[in-house]
Amino acid sequence: MEKELIFEARKLTKHFGPTVALNEVDFKVYRGQITGLIGENGSGKSTITSIAAGMQPATSGEMFYRGKPHKPATMIEGQKAGIGMIVQEQGTISGISIAQNIFLGQENRFRRAGVISKKKMNAEAKKALEDIGVKGIDPSLPIDVLNMQERKLVEIAKVVYGKPEMIVVDETTTALSQTGREIIYGIMKKMKDENKAVVFISHDLEELMETCDTLTVLRDGSLIATLPKDEMQEDAIKRHMVGREMKGDYYRSDYGTEVSKEVVLTVDNVTSGTGMLMNFSMKVHKGEILGIGGLSHCGMHELGRVLFGEEKLLEGSVTYLPTGDKITSARNALLLGFGYVSKDRDREALVLTGSIKDNILSAGLDKLKKGPFLPPADAKSYVQKQVVDLSVKCASVEQDVQYLSGGNKQKVVFGKWVGRDCDVLILDCPTRGVDIGVKAAMYQLIYKMKQQGKTIVMISEELPELIGMCDRLLILRDGELSGEFMRDADLNENMIIDVMI
Ligand SMILES: Nc1ncnc2c1ncn2[C@@H]1O[C@H](COP(=O)(O)OP(=O)(O)OP(=O)(O)O)[C@@H](O)[C@H]1O
Ligand SMILES: [Mg+2]
Repeated sequence: MEKELIFEARKLTKHFGPTVALNEVDFKVYRGQITGLIGENGSGKSTITSIAAGMQPATSGEMFYRGKPHKPATMIEGQKAGIGMIVQEQGTISGISIAQNIFLGQENRFRRAGVISKKKMNAEAKKALEDIGVKGIDPSLPIDVLNMQERKLVEIAKVVYGKPEMIVVDETTTALSQTGREIIYGIMKKMKDENKAVVFISHDLEELMETCDTLTVLRDGSLIATLPKDEMQEDAIKRHMVGREMKGDYYRSDYGTEVSKEVVLTVDNVTSGTGMLMNFSMKVHKGEILGIGGLSHCGMHELGRVLFGEEKLLEGSVTYLPTGDKITSARNALLLGFGYVSKDRDREALVLTGSIKDNILSAGLDKLKKGPFLPPADAKSYVQKQVVDLSVKCASVEQDVQYLSGGNKQKVVFGKWVGRDCDVLILDCPTRGVDIGVKAAMYQLIYKMKQQGKTIVMISEELPELIGMCDRLLILRDGELSGEFMRDADLNENMIIDVMI
């Protein structure tokens, strides 16, 4: 069957000041297909798709949608034309209800005699959520009561409700746990079966190769290749992405390395305020990389917050043994030499309106200061080192963090804490949205810290990374420990999944 073109960009170009985010890109999307988009952090994936969806204008070039010139001035115009986009960052708005988020800009549909019927709106919102398989969320509640994954699901329901002919899924899967991922895969498959179109952005090669019919590779704002299914091989894709050969595994390769017996951190019978952790206990050793995994509501993200003193405890305690201190607040954890990379980077981990430099310095200030002074040369070299180590793609370190690409923001969060030289580092999904090259650099930095005797707790939704990096792995289920695995060359995902569900 002849493939039918639904969207086309011709010589699409986008400049942000001196940055060329897109350079004369020709990009085609066909009906009945899932079109993958891959490229290093900052290569232009979000930029090209957000222009198609009407979120920002191009500098030059043309777009065509369903055979006609396409130049949406706003996201609402894009939606009306039939293009929906699930954005990489937070796509919902705080301060209003879940239902209001779903029907933002369309409230008039529920207006009768000048008054908006909240009841009708809430009922319709409930239906929109159920349509994508989400139950048990009351749409009349403020959106702020939801966690990051639930907010993403609300955004997905909103986009799907608009019945788009083409959707863009921008790096969404890493914000979701397995249950959420199943929902998004289901939606993509249904769209494909209905002869609609999907553009799928991800850094997970395996996921892309499995899901996509064709894969387009961007590098530095240029289109490098478009591969049909039978040409999608891992090494070839990586080569197109980075422009050189990139082989080998990026996890640590040692097995049977002894971990010190010295316990650094203990969690004793903790029940958290949210009730997500129930009577939970564990120990972490010096120089250990302890992995924490599980399904969406298992309590692993709460555990991260508990370790850093960010969650109220109903019972139990967290103790830092070298000093005997109890962890009672983030401030106190910070002073004891803890660091915490939060999963929700935009809300908890970054000051978006601050510069890259200020964000990176914010965690290291106390260590860099000489008395009350911060020597500018020291500050500069400190920031520069993080930016170079993690190849943060930016015009200058004075640039606001909010204008960085998603993966580059994540690198700033990571650099902020790694630079501080913490004794205990709590990492919650540290490689979320980060491209494969930088992932490798992050794993090396984590391993180096282990070798320096630092203690690392790595919380992750990615089993391969837990298996690949951790000395020991704890699996949580419904707020309780359901399994423990030691580092082993024979450890595989199936053994772990068995205790997850
Ligand atoms: N509003 C903006 N202001 C300035 N520069 C921007 C802005 N938006 C994007 N950029 C720059 O444009 C380039 C492309 O960014 P884009 O977000 O498209 O990357 P990406 O491929 O989606 O990366 P990631 O995998 O990290 O999400 C980057 O260098 C980024 O810093
Ligand atoms: Mg992006």
